[in-house]
Amino acid sequence: MMKGQTQAKTKKKVEEKVYELEPGPFELLDDNERDRLEGEFQGLLNLVDRGTIVVVSKQGEYEYENEKYPIIYNKFLLITATELQYNQTKLERPRIVKTHPDYVELENGLLAQSAVFYRFPDIVPEGFLAEYFGLGDVVFKWEALDPVSAASAIDRTRKRLESSSSNDSFTIRKLQKVTQLQGIIGGQAKLLRFWVYITYYGETKGELKNKFNQIRAIAKSRLFDIDIPKFYQGALYNFRTDVDFFVPFYNSVRPHYVDTITASWQFYPLISEDLIDEGGIFLGFSDSGSPVVFNPYRRANYNMIILGETGSGKSMTAKIFLKRMKKQFNIKIWGIDPENEYVKVSTALGVKGVVVKKNMTLGLDPFKLSRIETEEGRLIDVEDIAELLADFYLPNDIALRNRLRALVDDYKDSESVFEFVERVRKEDPEVGKYLDAINSPPDSYIFDGDVSISDNIVFGLKEISGTGASRLKALITTLLTIIYQKLMFSNKEKGYLFIDEAWLFVNYPVTMSLLENISRRARKYNKGLLFVTQKPADVAGNEAGRTILEQSATVLLLRQKKAGIEVLQKVYGIRQQEAEALLNVDPGHGILRTGNYLLRLYIQPSSEEFEAFRTTGEW
Ligand SMILES: Nc1ncnc2c1ncn2[C@@H]1O[C@H](COP(=O)(O)OP(=O)(O)OP(=O)(O)O)[C@@H](O)[C@H]1O
Ligand SMILES: [Mg+2]
Repeated sequence: MMKGQTQAKTKKKVEEKVYELEPGPFELLDDNERDRLEGEFQGLLNLVDRGTIVVVSKQGEYEYENEKYPIIYNKFLLITATELQYNQTKLERPRIVKTHPDYVELENGLLAQSAVFYRFPDIVPEGFLAEYFGLGDVVFKWEALDPVSAASAIDRTRKRLESSSSNDSFTIRKLQKVTQLQGIIGGQAKLLRFWVYITYYGETKGELKNKFNQIRAIAKSRLFDIDIPKFYQGALYNFRTDVDFFVPFYNSVRPHYVDTITASWQFYPLISEDLIDEGGIFLGFSDSGSPVVFNPYRRANYNMIILGETGSGKSMTAKIFLKRMKKQFNIKIWGIDPENEYVKVSTALGVKGVVVKKNMTLGLDPFKLSRIETEEGRLIDVEDIAELLADFYLPNDIALRNRLRALVDDYKDSESVFEFVERVRKEDPEVGKYLDAINSPPDSYIFDGDVSISDNIVFGLKEISGTGASRLKALITTLLTIIYQKLMFSNKEKGYLFIDEAWLFVNYPVTMSLLENISRRARKYNKGLLFVTQKPADVAGNEAGRTILEQSATVLLLRQKKAGIEVLQKVYGIRQQEAEALLNVDPGHGILRTGNYLLRLYIQPSSEEFEAFRTTGEW
């Protein structure tokens, strides 16, 4: 009955949506980073006129060594009618079956009770809500006052304080605050009416009482007062702070006021020191000993960079990541494996390993590839063929490069690269001389023959050795990646392109810009780039390389050489002390930066993974 009335009374039914917000750690961050996050939160508070943030504790599990372990993680939800860019989700909560004055009974048999914060200390600790996470669902609800009522509310308060005869320090401080507030409201800030409360659960009333006492003990120690308002329990459980029937006046559900600037740090809720992503894969353990469960699909993009010096555990980590991602998400994999480390364990990774031999034809003819149409146009544009041939065959000379561009354009109808070289030799013998290398092995093997490349494939390039090997590896990588790109961007199935020893390619602008392009566009197709390299300074010294490093939502930093430290600090804004700690850590230990998270961790292989994936030193 009550319910029907409530609905009828609602003037216009606004469609509320539930969005998921991304948390991050707070402890490890320096002041700048905290300011940045709080600034973002302030933006949200300014944008959303009515909102409710609910931090919900959830049970999950992670698997390690065939054992399943329970874990608790928090979900950060925002309920609002404002249209936002965040991912939408649902808030699934058991319904109320019976309402009592001071608790409610839920359809799952549990009891729920809500305790409201009704007195706030003068100094509210930054991010204090996080202290209650896990004890119940923490709710922060706000409504922006329109500027006129905000101004008059502040004015009334100011007048009241001014006219009060007391001039104790409390009143003076309050007055200062209010005067400050008057200055900022209407500028960058708004005034909010807000409520903070915690909804906790128990099987019995006794259990509710225990929870309440626990919460109150923390609250008291911070000089907050909390209370369980009678008759409001049903409303609070449903994120409302009003009831439609007469109840004795309750101080505790009266709103408090705060400006959005102050709120952005006092009520900053998006705090999670542990990385436990819902539905993620187990990576290892954080320094604090909690499991690290990572889900790349919860980040702004799915790219991942692994940086570390020789022997720091990059390839081990990449293999573990790919294997677990395959198991969890059935990802497709396309790989470039310069040291034949992955082709050796292709079965464990669920891919086909192709060991490229010196005299094997690969069929990677750019002219043939240019005739393959894709949904997004040609597999390789004519202009790109010119850049590719120039990067790999011409000296660094602008005039020659321009001549080659014109030649490619004139002869773009060439059946094959060999036919093209023939025509160039007649037309422009100087350029032809440089391209001549295409006609004989080892280069000719790359272009000759037929290509057959499918999903879930890794090419091992180690047997390409001797002089000019890194150039050949880069050329093959580039042409393969062009085909990989077509496969990656032809559907939205999840997948990763991985490149190990990526520093090999930094001197080839076409290769790097191709990879950069993939890293930028991959997300749209549910794909990610897994970019593995030593020598971060070399990669960052290159514009495309730096973009790749900067744009990746996830970065794992393993043991570093001194030369790499400065770059990493710059690119990833890590504190010097943290960065220097990376100079001497054991394999598999490092810093993971993903989304807003920054944590020290150890990548934990299972014993089978360790045996299968470790490098044996036979090369
Ligand atoms: N997470 C880990 N736990 C324990 N040992 C590890 C871990 N990762 C790597 N190792 C050890 O370190 C060795 C080197 O690891 P890996 O081959 O992954 O290094 P890398 O960084 O790829 O080196 P390179 O740059 O030479 O390719 C492995 O063979 C293994 O013995
Ligand atoms: Mg390696």
